[in-house]
Amino acid sequence: MNDALRALLAGAVLFCTLRAHAQIPDIGGTWVAEQATPVGGMEMVFRLKQAGVNITGSQALSFGTSPIVDGELHGDQFSFSVQFDLFGPPRTLSGSGRIVGDTLLISPALPPTPSGPVTAAMTFKRGFPTGNFAVDPMDYRSLPTVLLPALRAVSYNGLAKTPPMGWNSWNKFDVHVSDSLVREMADAMVASGMKAAGYSYINIDDGWQGARNAHGVLEPNAKFPDMRALARYVHARGLKLGLYASPGPRSCAGYEGSYGHEDIDARTWAAWGIDYLKYDWCSAGRIWREDSDMRAVYQRMGEALHRVTRRLVFSICQYGRASVAEWAPLAGGNLWRTSDDIKDSWERMSAIGFSQGPLARFAGPGHWNDPDMLEVGNGRMSNDEYRTHFSLWALLAAPLIAGNDLRDMAPAIKDILLNREVIAVDQDPLARPPERLSASGDTEIWVRTLRKGWAVALFNRGTAAADMSVKWADIGVAAPRTVIDVWAHAELSPADGFAGTVPPHGVIMLRVEP
Ligand code: GLA
Repeated sequence: MNDALRALLAGAVLFCTLRAHAQIPDIGGTWVAEQATPVGGMEMVFRLKQAGVNITGSQALSFGTSPIVDGELHGDQFSFSVQFDLFGPPRTLSGSGRIVGDTLLISPALPPTPSGPVTAAMTFKRGFPTGNFAVDPMDYRSLPTVLLPALRAVSYNGLAKTPPMGWNSWNKFDVHVSDSLVREMADAMVASGMKAAGYSYINIDDGWQGARNAHGVLEPNAKFPDMRALARYVHARGLKLGLYASPGPRSCAGYEGSYGHEDIDARTWAAWGIDYLKYDWCSAGRIWREDSDMRAVYQRMGEALHRVTRRLVFSICQYGRASVAEWAPLAGGNLWRTSDDIKDSWERMSAIGFSQGPLARFAGPGHWNDPDMLEVGNGRMSNDEYRTHFSLWALLAAPLIAGNDLRDMAPAIKDILLNREVIAVDQDPLARPPERLSASGDTEIWVRTLRKGWAVALFNRGTAAADMSVKWADIGVAAPRTVIDVWAHAELSPADGFAGTVPPHGVIMLRVEP
């Protein structure tokens, strides 16, 4: 071969190699999720290394990292497995993804939940993770062992005789909370009329925690310069202050947890003047791998809260696993989550709300099912859908914990959160479970017996308006004296029943009095 031919061939090989490489997108680097995980609401990061079609690296949640095995990229499609041991038994789980421009769409490798496998794709952008998550990968094996107490019944703290009402920062503000935000929200709760309507708790969710000092006391981070002063501010407005923590070493967003510090933390919160604790499982699953340990883990904090003189509402959050409704009050819980995280979407909200009926019998004064905080006013559902959300939660005697920005509520959103007739159904002292009277196609009729009369809700889960009717005889009432449409604020003529057109994804809710 002469030199000229050799040079031509070398050029052709180089061209082909470059072409082949040009077809493999570069996905090496750090990719940060744009939204929280669909289950557990956690931050997630992929750290990827690429060699040809082979991908290595890790899939990280805020409280731990799982190595990627068998990662491969073909065209723009990416498949992988992770050795997952963050909670539950260690196992190999598979995930997949696709690179689209500067975005990775990944269905992460997560264990299936009670409601099925996690398949929703999340979007990731190149970047740097924030907060504790970035800097502090914890070595869980080096932690001291915490012994679980023998099971016993923690006595009732006397609180939450009716479902708690208030506000929580998570649904709208994620970890972006601060002293000034909380003060503004307390002011807005008063100014908007929510306090007068019965809302009282201002609850700070994940993101307030700092580090432990030399005495093991957990201090707030720089965004909360003085928790006692903040509690005084909130109390001076006739409201109460709540905090969030985890029984694991890390919260779901990667902040310091209460693992092994239950007593000292309970004392700290009581000294600050805290009135409510949401206690979220998160990284506890790395320590206690069997869901059957959950009751004892929650009892540990239930007992710690009992040892302090201040009374705190105890809100158990472990996504409804391990038949929690059956033991939560015994662990000292006043309320317990019954589902994975809610989202501001009709699909998620209605899937949670309409499936809660069978649990309703576990609720009663002092102990409530918690289908998660409200999304009313966060902008991704219609007002009809928000009315359905609020009506359902009220029928279920669920805690009414607003999750929107109270400082600038549209009049229609205020009308929902401040509807006193609907709030009265939620807070009815009898706390009788609702019943689904009928379900046909997309429509459902629910009834709840109240101290005085009945609440009747006609729900339309479909996408077209539905003509619906109910006869008073069906709910066992001969001739009611008054019938009020609680959303239309109208008194109706009782006749022998009600018939009306229910908007798509909407509700007509009636208060029927004998
Ligand atoms: C979990 C909880 C949420 C919220 C976040 C905070 O996902 O279920 O309600 O508290 O953690 O990180």
